[in-house]
Amino acid sequence: MPTSTPGSVDSVARSVTQSTDPGAWRPTWVEVDLGAIAANVAALKAQAAAPRLMAVVKADGYGHGMVPAARAALAGGADWLAVALVEEGQTLRAAGVDAPVLVLTEPPPGAAGALLDARLTPTVYSPEFTAALDREARDRGGARVGVHLKLDTGMRRVGVPPAQWEDALRRVGAAEGLHLEGLWSHFAVADEPDHPFIAHQAREFRRGLALAASLGLRPEFAHLCNSAGTLHLHDEHHDMVRPGLAVYGLEPAPGLAGATRLRPALTWRSQLSFVKRVAAGEAVSYGLRWTAPRETTIGSVPAGYADGVTRALSDRGQVLLRGRRVPIAGTVCMDQFLVDAGELPVAAGDEVVLIGAQGDAAVTADDWAAWLGTINYEVVCGIGKRVPRRYLGP
Ligand SMILES: Cc1ncc(COP(=O)(O)O)c(C=O)c1O
Repeated sequence: MPTSTPGSVDSVARSVTQSTDPGAWRPTWVEVDLGAIAANVAALKAQAAAPRLMAVVKADGYGHGMVPAARAALAGGADWLAVALVEEGQTLRAAGVDAPVLVLTEPPPGAAGALLDARLTPTVYSPEFTAALDREARDRGGARVGVHLKLDTGMRRVGVPPAQWEDALRRVGAAEGLHLEGLWSHFAVADEPDHPFIAHQAREFRRGLALAASLGLRPEFAHLCNSAGTLHLHDEHHDMVRPGLAVYGLEPAPGLAGATRLRPALTWRSQLSFVKRVAAGEAVSYGLRWTAPRETTIGSVPAGYADGVTRALSDRGQVLLRGRRVPIAGTVCMDQFLVDAGELPVAAGDEVVLIGAQGDAAVTADDWAAWLGTINYEVVCGIGKRVPRRYLGP
């Protein structure tokens, strides 16, 4: 190995590289258990009524890291992957992931060529994007491009509105460069098992499939079910289920996983960076909003709102220290927050778990969601890019 003289350009470059590597020195990181992701996919697929599973890995694999999560999902038996952006699909391809990848939303028409270059499968719903894709496909020659037409069955986000289903089906059917490989839709309330709108959307989707059949179109893949649907709407699984959250071991609503054992894949760890005693009546952190009710030990944790420890957790969140839950004390800062360790015998370097288990205690993404008035999806997606992800197995 070439050596460099201390102080040379080479040695400075090397030390700069090391010191700017996120996580090189700061002991705050997310651990992702890839074996859990693979096992979750296998469990979801085993209980599904559909023969295929599409694992949703958009948004950096719900914060877990898209490429490793995708590989783990495929190892667990996923047949397809789904992303939100062409750019995400390109990243998968650049990493050598070869599985079929559905892009769940239409990009602007100008991206049709890039989408096809990356061998991604497009979702279509607008006449403009369908036409742009058809043009690109015809220009390239070769086999027709398989597309998945998205029907809006009631979510009213994106998709073909019901009054235009027939036109859209005819348009795709007539496009010389395209063929209708998939027909799909998305539930608005699958995580509320008793909601009557579930049955309405399921009926509407069947009507869409029947309409396609009446026009001579028989897509190979009909798919409707997100995690909640995958776990409890077995009559609506059609040819493929399309879970995201459950792949990562989280439940879309408490108890929805039922007998399906899901293992949360993510643990967020740190270590106390500094410990001190503060006297009763002393206030801590920005705004001096938390005052010690008694003499106590305050620990500093090197993670802050720039890392996704959102400021709304100030005086509200809890973390694990020495196998116990301890409260966040005072205002969460950009790079640090403080905890009230009370009389626990703590020292700098002690492990802090922000999300995950420590001994018999646990803090979950669902706990964070309850403290923050949001959903576990947003919690894991909100863990900042500055926090390195470390991967365990398989
Ligand atoms: C179109 C679509 N399908 C499937 C999913 C996966 O949903 P879930 O994470 O609830 O399983 C999502 C996630 O937002 C989505 O937007």
